[in-house]
Amino acid sequence: MKTIGDVAVEGRCVLVRADLNVPLDNGRVADDGRIRASLPTLTELTGRGARVVVCAHLGRPGGREDLRYSLAPVAARLAQLLGREVSFPGDITGQAARAAIAASGPGDVVMLENLRFNQAETSKDDMSRGYFADELASPADLYVADGFGAMHRRHASVYDVPLRMVSVAGYLVQAEVGALRRLTAEIRRPYVVVLGGAKVADKFDAFGSLIARADRILVGGAMAFPFLVARGLKTGTSLLEASQVDAAARYLEQAAPGQIELPSDIVVAAGMAADAPHRVVPADAIPADQMGLDIGPESAARFAAAVGTAGTVFWNGPMGVFELTPFAAGTRAVGQAMTGGGAFTVAGGGDTGAAIRALGFDEKAFGHVSTGGGASLEFIQGRTLPGLAALDAS
Ligand code: 3PG
Ligand code: MG
Repeated sequence: MKTIGDVAVEGRCVLVRADLNVPLDNGRVADDGRIRASLPTLTELTGRGARVVVCAHLGRPGGREDLRYSLAPVAARLAQLLGREVSFPGDITGQAARAAIAASGPGDVVMLENLRFNQAETSKDDMSRGYFADELASPADLYVADGFGAMHRRHASVYDVPLRMVSVAGYLVQAEVGALRRLTAEIRRPYVVVLGGAKVADKFDAFGSLIARADRILVGGAMAFPFLVARGLKTGTSLLEASQVDAAARYLEQAAPGQIELPSDIVVAAGMAADAPHRVVPADAIPADQMGLDIGPESAARFAAAVGTAGTVFWNGPMGVFELTPFAAGTRAVGQAMTGGGAFTVAGGGDTGAAIRALGFDEKAFGHVSTGGGASLEFIQGRTLPGLAALDAS
């Protein structure tokens, strides 16, 4: 894989696709892990006198300008971390963006507004994506792919732009691919996969290939509810992706007995609030007016024991609403087991990384903490990420 070390950048306009999709809290960056992960590439490019244009997405604004999803706070945080000015024209490919890029000199950084304010970024229509990609590419001499967490998306900035111009990988993508390759080759067993989080539909089709690869699949977070329903249990007012229940039933049938492990107890409350009264109930006795917000202590201990005796662990998605202290224990137990055992451990995802940092774990105690959730999950199944395929082709 060609990287920025292989190309001349001085005085050139370099378009960097980063993944700066970070959690915000009241308009402030709540976890800057993905911004920090982008620094090695950006620091090197500015240091070598490139004119850097950073593009990224934030959340899922649905193809229209919605300032709740503006990258402005991210640009401000990036400027602090880089220790240099980041110009933010508040525009993607329009007049203001062009003017800011034209005015930039060697070592300057311009950050474009949220790419997903334009519906063409995520369009299924090749022509519409292609047109947008032409506009993004036009001021740039070189493209750098560094947004690993978005590389599983066939989006204009991820896939179509690098097909159009000289494109290389950034240091984050190089590091991610290097680390995650260890999970696609020979794996030290038992291989335990822990899945949770809220983007259930996105990740559900991973089960088919994980059943073939992993020895045990531990399921927590909102991911567990379609499985509990498929087992005939009731999940009260829990966040339930009902469209996945049939698939969950199929996976349970397909898997070896006990290969997919579900929570046996659940922490429930009437609502998602830190001060909501909460209690632990058996997974088959979730009250109709309560929602599950974490796996219970018995499940957490069982999951931790499986992780602790594994040879390899891949973890994607928190076990509960870790942002609220009463519902963080399941996620903490998995993190503790991952950092305390002898396995090669990989944790991945925006939320998972944020949880690891918020709960005070040392990232260095993991084998690898990936900035990509969906992306790492697809990569370890041996799938070709569109963003990587586009690079190889150029
Ligand atoms: C992520 O946070 O997983 C990536 O930034 C991709 O975001 P998406 O799931 O909204 O495409
Ligand atoms: Mg994701």
